[in-house]
Amino acid sequence: MMASQSFLRCIELTASSVRLLDQTQLPSREVWLEITDWRDMIEAICFLRIRGAPALGVAAAAYAWLASLRLTPEDDFKSAISSALDIIAASRPTAVNLHHVVAGCRIIVNSVSSIEKAVAALRRYTIELSNYEIDACRRMGEHGLAHIGAGSHRILTICNTGSLATVGIGTALGVVRTLAAHGAVKVFACETRPLLQGARLTMWELMRDGINCALITDGMAASVMRSEGIDLVLAGADRIACNGDTANKIGTLGLAILARHYGIPFYIVAPRSSIDTALATGEGIVIEQRDGDEVRGFGGCAGAPCGCEVRNPAFDVTPAALISAIITDEGAFVAPYNL
Ligand code: MRU
Repeated sequence: MMASQSFLRCIELTASSVRLLDQTQLPSREVWLEITDWRDMIEAICFLRIRGAPALGVAAAAYAWLASLRLTPEDDFKSAISSALDIIAASRPTAVNLHHVVAGCRIIVNSVSSIEKAVAALRRYTIELSNYEIDACRRMGEHGLAHIGAGSHRILTICNTGSLATVGIGTALGVVRTLAAHGAVKVFACETRPLLQGARLTMWELMRDGINCALITDGMAASVMRSEGIDLVLAGADRIACNGDTANKIGTLGLAILARHYGIPFYIVAPRSSIDTALATGEGIVIEQRDGDEVRGFGGCAGAPCGCEVRNPAFDVTPAALISAIITDEGAFVAPYNL
């Protein structure tokens, strides 16, 4: 049994609000928001103040609880919460955790007979889900360590898969943290254009933990894999189909192709809650398309001519054939995947 690791809780419930760390302000400022209105949760989710598939699941449950708190005896509470759930379901289409939670909330609300019971049940659900994700992160770390082995590792990663993306030690970063507790680890973090989750968030988390790390631009990945002697690539997941095809942050597919070229193991790390058992393959995964201005500039500064044509898919799908193993909270799975 491994010693428990401490971690930052990016989202939690107070008696009457949802407290979350505004990730758009990192790394410059640590701003905690206290959200009492469910509509502000939608804004926080759409603008990535809270993000990462497991954390989005918890945010969706917290949102349903906040929506239920606002109800009055005159409201038809089942249809009011159902309408609120329709809105959040449209906010981030790819991260399946959010959609699992929306379905879970619908079942809960349909099974209770009063507003008070809905409020209590949705609060309990949010807390239980947080506890599940915390434990799942710890288990992924243990399974990752068992599969990869202790020792010295030079790791490439993308996006942010740490405490800021989950409510525990993280998925891919949870494995990094666990490996770092058992050996010498050096992490290369891709900056992750356009919203820089790797540069802003992963580097912030790793430096806070004193884990040896270096930031690279996304375009450096190929040469860094060779010149820096990368041993493995660790990435998270937003939705995994039964055959192992995996949607994750845009750029992940490119890393998987490069890793195959260089013969470097490429691992996906994700909890069971990120698996979509209704999807046979990755073909059916809906990819979130975000506003083109995210690509045209950053932080209010233009990086391209105003109004130029751009593409901004937030995720890509890595075929199972390029994945060496999928490390989950229930163990490490290898091909052929039958999740
Ligand atoms: O758009 P984001 O920042 O929500 O995307 C997050 C990712 O793609 C992560 O890599 C993924 O959710 C795994 S997080 C544990």
